[in-house]
Amino acid sequence: ENEEQKKMFHAMDLAARFYHHLLLHEKHGRIARQYLEKRQVHIETIKEFQIGFAPPSDRDLLLRFLTRRQFSVDLLERIGLVITRTSSFQNTSFDRFRGRIIFPIHDSQGRVIAFGGRSLGSQEPRYLNSPESPLFYKGNHLFNLHRARKSVRKKQQAIIFEGYMDVIAAWQAGIHTCLATLGTALTEQQAKVIRRNTESVILCYDADRAGLSAAERGSEVLKRVDCTVKIAQMPEKMDPDDYIRRYGASQFQEEVLAGAQTLTAFKLEMLKKNYHLQDEDDRIKYLTAAIDFISELPLIIEQDHYLRRIADEFQMPLDVLKAEQRRMKRRKK
Ligand code: UTP
Ligand code: MN
Ligand code: MN
Ligand code: MN
Ligand code: MN
Repeated sequence: ENEEQKKMFHAMDLAARFYHHLLLHEKHGRIARQYLEKRQVHIETIKEFQIGFAPPSDRDLLLRFLTRRQFSVDLLERIGLVITRTSSFQNTSFDRFRGRIIFPIHDSQGRVIAFGGRSLGSQEPRYLNSPESPLFYKGNHLFNLHRARKSVRKKQQAIIFEGYMDVIAAWQAGIHTCLATLGTALTEQQAKVIRRNTESVILCYDADRAGLSAAERGSEVLKRVDCTVKIAQMPEKMDPDDYIRRYGASQFQEEVLAGAQTLTAFKLEMLKKNYHLQDEDDRIKYLTAAIDFISELPLIIEQDHYLRRIADEFQMPLDVLKAEQRRMKRRKK
C-alpha cells in the first residue's frame, strides 16, 4: 500500500462518512430516511451499514467537500467519485452519485473501496455502482464479507444473495452469514474467497429467470473450487428482502434456508412447474421428462438417488422407473 493508495482509501472513507452524515441530517436526508423507513430498514441497521445519501440538488457537493480537504480532482476521478466532462471550452467535474441511497462496499479488511447507489424511485439505472478502480475490481470482492466472515467461519455456511438490500434485510433479521456479489455473476475469484472461509454455500437468488440462471452458473463455479452448494427456493417473483419483510426471519430460516436443495433437485422442481400434476397425462409426461433429465446426470449413484426420490414422491416402484429408463435409452439409440 503506497502513499497514493493510502490517500484513495482516505478519500473513500471520508466520502462514506459524508454521505452517511447527509442521510442522518434532517434537511438533506429526509426523503432518503423516509424511503428506508418504507423498506423497513431500522436506524441501527442504517448505522451498522453506514448507509448514506447523495442529495439530488447539488451537482458537486462531495467534490467541494473533498477538494477543500486537499484531495485532487484527478484522484477523486480515479476512484470513481467524480466524473469530468471535457469539451473544447472547459472541463466540468461533478459528483457521480446524485439523488441516490449510498451503500458503502468494503474490502475484506473493512476499508471502503466503492459505493452502490440506488435511485429513490424507479429511475433507471436503479443501481449505479462505482466503476472499477485501483481499489476496486468487482470480481474480487463480495458485499458484506468483512462483517459476515466471522459468522461464516463459525457456522461453516455462507448464503449468497443477489442484492445489497437482501443482505441488509437478512442481517437485520439476525442472519449474519450473508454476502452478495456486486451486480455481476459470481466469479471464480469470489468463489475462492468463499471457499477459504467455508465449504458449504447456499445460493439464494431471486425467484425469476435471471435468478435461476445465476444459480446454475454460480453453482458450477463453486463446485469447481470444491464447495458444496445448495439452492434455496423463493416463492415466484419474490426476493429475500421481499420475503423477510413479508413473512419474517424465522419463516425465512425454516421455509427457505432449511429447504435448500441440490441443484439437481432444484431443476427437477423447476421442471415440474411446466406440468399440471393433477392431470394424469401430464403426470406421465412429467415422469418421462424427469427420467430423461436424470439419465443425463454424470454419476450412476446420482441417477439412482433421484430416481428413488421420484419413486417415493409418486408412489411408484423403483423397478418400474428403471425399466422405463432402460426402454428410453434403447429407443434413443
Ligand atoms: P434486482 O433487480 O433484483 O434488484 O438486482 P431489486 O431487488 O429489484 O432491488 P430493490 O429491492 O428494488 O432495491 C439485484 C442486484 O443487482 C444489481 C445490484 O447489486 C442489486 O442489488 N443491480 C441491479 C445493478 O447493479 N444494476 C441494476 O440496474 C439493477
Ligand atoms: Mn425491486
Ligand atoms: Mn432480480
Ligand atoms: Mn432482487
Ligand atoms: Mn429487492
